[in-house]
Amino acid sequence: MRLVLLGAPGSGKGTQADLLKAELGIPHISTGDLLRAAVRAGTPLGLKAKAVMEAGQLVSDEIVLGMLEERLAQADAAAGFILDGYPRNLAQCAALETLLARLGQPIDVAIKLEVPSELIVERIAGRAAEQGRKDDTPETVRERLRVYAEQTEPVAGHFAQLGKLRVVDGVGELAEVSQRILGALPAGAPSAA
Ligand code: AP5
Repeated sequence: MRLVLLGAPGSGKGTQADLLKAELGIPHISTGDLLRAAVRAGTPLGLKAKAVMEAGQLVSDEIVLGMLEERLAQADAAAGFILDGYPRNLAQCAALETLLARLGQPIDVAIKLEVPSELIVERIAGRAAEQGRKDDTPETVRERLRVYAEQTEPVAGHFAQLGKLRVVDGVGELAEVSQRILGALPAGAPSAA
């Protein structure tokens, strides 16, 4: 199963991917987590990405694609993956399709988590208090939501045109949202309801 999780910042993509990876037996690949690890490690890539992330902007397509290609080449991704945070604009969408076509492994489904913006602001404020993520400040969150609406919403439209988009209500208990996602997977998926 090759699954893309879409949704605004704070909609629960990372949380749900972590819950579903064991159930589906495939890894959770988050470009945000990969970038944050590079920032923590102080790699040249991380140094370039840090300020961009803290401003709520998108890191360059080239950097993120290189990082993703490396991750997808690892053995655990051969049977599929849950992709979280990528693709984030139409150029990344085209790059992903080219890459996966080369591997003969197209995306099966894109799940978009829908959560009202007031709840998103609440969730991110909660995470800011708990974890102190540098890009969870109110100004940066506003910018991330603006970038999402401008650049990432069209990605959902692209998957809809391909007939691969499923929209899932992301409000509710974690297990309840997980069940909705599993129920939206295409027939034949390991845990599709
Ligand atoms: P990234 O890490 O991808 O952040 P994001 O998309 O903004 O998403 P979040 O991590 O904020 O939210 P989420 O949807 O995963 O929600 P979560 O599960 O954490 O990207 C960060 C930055 O990296 C970008 O701004 C950009 O600079 C860069 N970047 C990343 N990918 C890139 C790319 N492809 N190209 C270019 N740049 C890229 O949940 C949020 C909170 O809500 C948590 O506290 C959680 O516990 C809580 N919660 C979750 N579900 C529920 C629920 N059902 N009920 C109550 N609380 C809940």
